[in-house]
Amino acid sequence: MKIAATIAEARTLIAALREERRGSEQGNAVGFVPTMGYLHEGHASLLRRSRAESGISVLSIFVNPIQFGPGEDLDRYPRSEKADLELAEREGVDVVFLPSVDEMYPQERKTTVTVTGVTERLCGASRPGHFDGVATVVSKLFHIVKPDKAFFGAKDAQQVAVLQKMVIDLNMDVEIVPCPIIREEDGLALSSRNVYLSSEQRREALVLSRSLREAAERIQSGESVSPRRIVEDVTRAIQASPLAVIDYVEMLAFPDLVPLDEEHGLSDLRDSGGSLILAVAVKFGTTRLIDNVIMKLKEAALHV
Ligand code: PAJ
Repeated sequence: MKIAATIAEARTLIAALREERRGSEQGNAVGFVPTMGYLHEGHASLLRRSRAESGISVLSIFVNPIQFGPGEDLDRYPRSEKADLELAEREGVDVVFLPSVDEMYPQERKTTVTVTGVTERLCGASRPGHFDGVATVVSKLFHIVKPDKAFFGAKDAQQVAVLQKMVIDLNMDVEIVPCPIIREEDGLALSSRNVYLSSEQRREALVLSRSLREAAERIQSGESVSPRRIVEDVTRAIQASPLAVIDYVEMLAFPDLVPLDEEHGLSDLRDSGGSLILAVAVKFGTTRLIDNVIMKLKEAALHV
C-alpha cells in the first residue's frame, strides 16, 4: 500500500498502477472511497466493495474544512491516522491519499460546486453551505484520482443524491455506487461521531434506528397509512427520549428529495417504481446523528 501526501504523488502513483495493471486479470479500473478518516466498519464495507469491483482501490482521508459550518465540530473531529492505515491495509487498498488542508486549498478559492434542488431539505436546510463543501471537495478529489467508480454509504443518503446529480450535470465520467448502511448489532448506524456519545446518550440514540425500522415495517406490511402520520409517529417516538433534540423527521421521494404529495404524487412514484426516504437528524447533547431508511414504493402501501 502506498501513501500519497500530495496531489502530484497521488496522480503519479495511480497512473503507474493503471499502466502496470493494464490487461491484468482484475483489470486496471480505479475504485475510490473518499472519507474523513476515523475509519470504522461502515468505511470498511465501502473499501471491500471497491476492492471487489476494481483492479485498483484508492482511499482518501481528508477532514474537509469547507463542509463544516461555524460552530460545528471541525476542531474536534476525531482522527486516528495509524488505525486508519492499518484498516486500509487490511482491506487491500492500493493508494491512500492523505493531503493536508494547504495541499487541497493552497490559495483563496474562487470556485464552488453548488447542486441545487436536492440540497433544499434535510441536512441541506439545517447545515447551510454543507453540500457546497462536499460537492466541491468530491469534485476536486475526482479530478485528482480519476476513478471509474466511487463508493458512498446510504447512511448519508442526501450526499449520494447530491453527488449523483453533480456527476450527471457536469458529465463527470464516474459511476456513483451507493452502498448499504452498516449498523451495530443493536441497530445504531456506525458513525465516526458515535465516539462523542456518553453511554446514556448512546443507549437513547437507539430510538432512531428503532423508530425507522418500525415505520418501515408498517409501511411494508401493507398498512394503509399517510406519510404525515408516519412522520408524526416517528417524531413522537423520538421525543419520548428525554436527551433527544430533533432537527428533522422527513419523508420524501428519493433521490429527488421532494415531498411525496407535491411534484411526485404517490401514484406517479409508484408507477415509475420510485423510492421514498424516511430520514431523521437528532442531537444528543452536542452530537448530531443522522439515520434513514429508503424503500421502493411498489412494496409500500401509503396514502397521501
Ligand atoms: P465520512 O463521514 O468519513 O464518510 C465516508 C463514507 O463512508 C461516506 O460515503 C459515508 O456515507 C460512508 N459511511 C459512513 N458511515 C457509514 C455506515 N454506517 N454505513 C455505510 N457507509 C457509511 O461522507 C464523508 O466522509 C464526506 O462528506 C466526504 C464524502 C469524504 C467528503 O468530504
